[in-house]
Amino acid sequence: MGWFPCSGDSNKKAKAKKKMKMQKKPIDRISSTSDKSKMDSLWASINGGSDNNITAKTLTFRELASATKNFRAECLLGEGGFGRVYKGYLESINQVVAIKQLNRDGLQGNREFLVEVLMLSLLHHPNLVNLIGYCADGDQRLLVYEYMPLGSLEDHLHDVASGKKRLDWNTRMKIAAGAARGLEYLHGKAKPPVIYRDLKCANILLGRGYHPKLSDFGLAKLGPVGDNTHVSTRVMGTYGYCAPEYAMTGQLTLKSDVYSFGVVLLEIITGRKAIDTSKAAAEQSLVAWARPLFKDRTKFSVIVDPELKGQYPSRGLYQALAVAAMCVNEHPDMRPVIADVVTALSFLASQKYEPDTEQVRSPRLAPHTPPRTKRDRDKKLSGGRGSERERTRRLS
Ligand SMILES: Nc1ncnc2c1ncn2[C@@H]1O[C@H](COP(=O)(O)OP(=O)(O)OP(=O)(O)O)[C@@H](O)[C@H]1O
Ligand SMILES: [Mg+2]
Repeated sequence: MGWFPCSGDSNKKAKAKKKMKMQKKPIDRISSTSDKSKMDSLWASINGGSDNNITAKTLTFRELASATKNFRAECLLGEGGFGRVYKGYLESINQVVAIKQLNRDGLQGNREFLVEVLMLSLLHHPNLVNLIGYCADGDQRLLVYEYMPLGSLEDHLHDVASGKKRLDWNTRMKIAAGAARGLEYLHGKAKPPVIYRDLKCANILLGRGYHPKLSDFGLAKLGPVGDNTHVSTRVMGTYGYCAPEYAMTGQLTLKSDVYSFGVVLLEIITGRKAIDTSKAAAEQSLVAWARPLFKDRTKFSVIVDPELKGQYPSRGLYQALAVAAMCVNEHPDMRPVIADVVTALSFLASQKYEPDTEQVRSPRLAPHTPPRTKRDRDKKLSGGRGSERERTRRLS
């Protein structure tokens, strides 16, 4: 069995916020009839057949065009596999919103649109992004979300514009704990449980005060029910975040999300990307690079993000790394349930680190990790993002 990432390239705009990303290719075609029946059963199983909980509004294309000044380039926030995301102002509700316009290039996108509308209409939690409405006018498909003013976690960890303030340790732990709470809701409180399947830094959006919310539910799946231990599905997700057993077998469990969460936590701690093809071969995969270092406490200062400039609590770092190491365990049974991760990270987030009262360690760099230079950053800005975004697909 082999795997290959979809090819694609990223096209950076001058403004760091306006990101142009590769288009997600349809993995396979789903007929609209089977799509509809799958959606009907999804609907019925989530909601007991009733639509009482639906809070998202139906919006017209005209309203959304006017909200974004006809999808003007200056309103563009970014672009992912689904399509472009614009900032807009919806007069009818007097609110600034983010509007995602689906690429009109296939039924896979349409399926993700339906899943996203259904999931976000029915799931509500302070750590999940709020879907305000949607539009399905003719062949137009648009999703309207609450606007998250601080962008994605990825914007704050990777390819950060020089001069922009870096996330401090306390904020990193707050974001990790909040994202884990969102996942805990999906796994533990939603009935039946929901497997998110697309956890990554780009999908953790940040509100005021760096309050994190999970976004992008187009790949979400209802979890196993009864005696079933997994659901079988095509392998979808983002390269670098996929649990190894899911990538190998297509068998999806709640523990696949826990693995992806572990990768995100490692990115938060190290400041490195899940996959970074600009690094030496041994350092391209974050998990493969970090695994041997977990075992050696003396190496922890090598793992931690040099951008923290030594300002982190050593005990907190040790504990956060222990959580990340458990989450990315190769054996799904050895990974913790997300509720336990929430307990550990909530504790870590509650332990406020104050640099003035703790000795500041001098940041040591890994032997093969040169300090981040401007040249380095520029190189990344011009195309280092590609592979991390790439979706995996199954060769059959
Ligand atoms: N609700 C929102 N508020 C503010 N900005 C947003 C919002 N939703 C998305 N964005 C911005 O738009 C960008 C593109 O988001 P999108 O979800 O389409 O792609 P992605 O998550 O980066 O990639 P992928 O499609 O592979 O999941 C994000 O990186 C983020 O900066
Ligand atoms: Mg996203």
